[in-house]
Amino acid sequence: NKRKESAMIVSQECIAADIYSMWIQTEKIASLAVPGQFISMYTKDGSKLLPRPISLCEINREKKLIRVVYRVTGEGTGTEQFSELTKGDWIDILGPLGNGFPLEAAKGKKAMLIGGGIGVPPMLELAKQLDTKKVLVMGYRDEQFLAEEFCEYGDFYVATEDGSAGTKGNVMDAIAANGLDAEVIFACGPAPMLRAIKQYAEEKNIVCYISTEERMACGIGACLACVCQSKEVDGHSHVHNKRVCKDGPVFLSTEVEI
Ligand code: FES
Repeated sequence: NKRKESAMIVSQECIAADIYSMWIQTEKIASLAVPGQFISMYTKDGSKLLPRPISLCEINREKKLIRVVYRVTGEGTGTEQFSELTKGDWIDILGPLGNGFPLEAAKGKKAMLIGGGIGVPPMLELAKQLDTKKVLVMGYRDEQFLAEEFCEYGDFYVATEDGSAGTKGNVMDAIAANGLDAEVIFACGPAPMLRAIKQYAEEKNIVCYISTEERMACGIGACLACVCQSKEVDGHSHVHNKRVCKDGPVFLSTEVEI
């Protein structure tokens, strides 16, 4: 169901230090995509740099638009190239890729959406599409982004490492400080955060889906940099290697080792 497209950039802006927001006009990708999926974005010198997997922040089916919010990871990187593109420029993208979050798992339940760092953006489309009671907990190093947009879709809580906004500390500190709870958790962020959430959910017996997208490199099954161990829940507890970009990035927390 995935497609490679040459797509036009509709807008691009820097929304925080090193964080860029880009809207892209697509042919088919917007109509196929679900929250938690990603696209691979190709650099101009495709032979030198691998495509970059970037998660979808928003999907507008009617207008066939997708939005990506991404971090520029350094000089000479693919993401730096993307940040230099402006309205009217073209980019090759492949998608939608990955499995996405299972919306039906939250039906009639109180959901908690947790994002950390560059795991924050995919939570926005999920917050929009989840038609259930929800609390949103986002963690930032210092500068917040997308905060105002999140406020439209649920009770919004923030943690910052430097204490400049919300609870000082990480998302787990914000959950404890505000006495938050839920019946189902969806989370995306760095591995230490996901590890803490996985443990919290398992202790409290909460169904929890985690997106381990941070581990991805090529995003298209070519580099094997994303392999992780998983426990198949078929009653036999077999250990399998899974490619995050093909089998994930979203997994049931009890299924994977992180
Ligand atoms: Fe390269 Fe998964 S990211 S194989």
